[in-house]
Amino acid sequence: MTLALCPGSFDPVTNGHLDIIERSSTTFDEVLVAVIANPSKEPLFTLDERKDLLEKAVAPFGNVRIDAFEGLLVDFALARGVDVIVKGLRAVSDFDYEMQMAHMNRRLTGIDTFFLPTSHEYSYLAASLVRDVVRLGGDVEGLVPEHVLVAMRERYRR
Ligand code: PNS
Repeated sequence: MTLALCPGSFDPVTNGHLDIIERSSTTFDEVLVAVIANPSKEPLFTLDERKDLLEKAVAPFGNVRIDAFEGLLVDFALARGVDVIVKGLRAVSDFDYEMQMAHMNRRLTGIDTFFLPTSHEYSYLAASLVRDVVRLGGDVEGLVPEHVLVAMRERYRR
């Protein structure tokens, strides 16, 4: 039984995240999606909102669970009995930082990181870009689930 961990800020979950989560769910026995409780920047959505948006998005996948963590990712991973961390790589620009984290996480605990190339249609996608585009009234249809789009429009209306 292999348990894979997909960590992130998920502010909000995008179809790029879901691409990685879905492909992990068909590769590993179980997937735990871990939402960081306190991301470095003030998030658009609270932790509970980010978790709820994710819960709805992963409902079709039978072997995916959502949880939240604070502090070191690897401490959370050890406590949950995680076997591997899975990260998506969009482009070369992701590579340096992701490699640093993968090496550090392995050094700290021995837990390895598996990288999946993000599907090409999402290779430029970032939650920060999606937030900007929606805030400024642009169209992100097809880049986030419909319920996420509704929640974002509602949030920026205030
Ligand atoms: O969606 P993001 O913001 O790219 O996710 C980054 C995240 C949450 C996976 C990363 O920042 C992280 O693992 N943070 C937890 C703190 C930690 O363990 N830092 C040391 C990494 S070597």
